[in-house]
Amino acid sequence: MKIIMLGAPGAGKGTQAKKIAGKYGIPHISTGDIFRANIKNGTELGKKAKTYMDQGLLVPDELVVDLVVDRVNQEDCTKGYVLDGFPRTIPQAEALDKALADVDQKIDYAINVEVPDENIVNRMSGRRACVSCGATYHLVYAPTKEEGICDNCQGSLILRDDDKPETVKKRLNVYHEQTQPLIDYYTKAGVLVEVDGTIDIDDVFAAIVKVLEEA
Ligand code: AP5
Ligand code: MG
Repeated sequence: MKIIMLGAPGAGKGTQAKKIAGKYGIPHISTGDIFRANIKNGTELGKKAKTYMDQGLLVPDELVVDLVVDRVNQEDCTKGYVLDGFPRTIPQAEALDKALADVDQKIDYAINVEVPDENIVNRMSGRRACVSCGATYHLVYAPTKEEGICDNCQGSLILRDDDKPETVKKRLNVYHEQTQPLIDYYTKAGVLVEVDGTIDIDDVFAAIVKVLEEA
């Protein structure tokens, strides 16, 4: 089962991708998480990516495509995977399709988690991420058991640098310009699934599972 998560920043792609990966035993591949791990480890890729991410801009395609193509060709991806945050531009989608076609494969579902812009800024200001394991919470909608402490690993929680309201607004503009055209792209490919992302986290997940299991 090869799945792509689509949706605006903060729509809940990561939240749902983790749940899908857990239920179906497939890897969750988040390009945002890969970049953040590289930034934390001070790699060259991390240094380059940070300059774009801090401004709410997309990292250039050439820094992303090979990385993802290599990742999906690894052994643990033979049963499938959930891609979260990739592709984000038409050239990225075309490069992925080409790499998959070379090995006689294709994407099965592109799940678009729909949340209107007006809900997003609010949602992002309440998000907290663990500095150690990357787990994501929300002060109101997905709180930790103990305030400021990760439930998984007891790491401390932070507000992501790019979750400040001015940067979120910029990311939303970038999303509408560069990523939203993928909805049309995957509709034409016959794999688009739309889910309402404004409802409760578990209800969004139930809607996704229903689609995956009906097919
Ligand atoms: P990335 O990390 O992918 O960020 P994003 O797409 O902006 O999305 P987010 O991770 O912010 O949101 P999400 O949809 O995962 O929501 P979440 O589940 O956390 O990318 C960051 C940056 O890296 C980009 O800006 C770009 O610079 C670069 N980058 C990454 N990939 C790239 C690529 N392919 N090409 C170029 N550049 C790339 O949920 C958000 C919050 O809401 C959480 O607190 C959560 O608990 C809460 N929540 C979730 N669902 C619900 C719900 N149903 N109800 C209430 N609250 C909810
Ligand atoms: Mg995410």
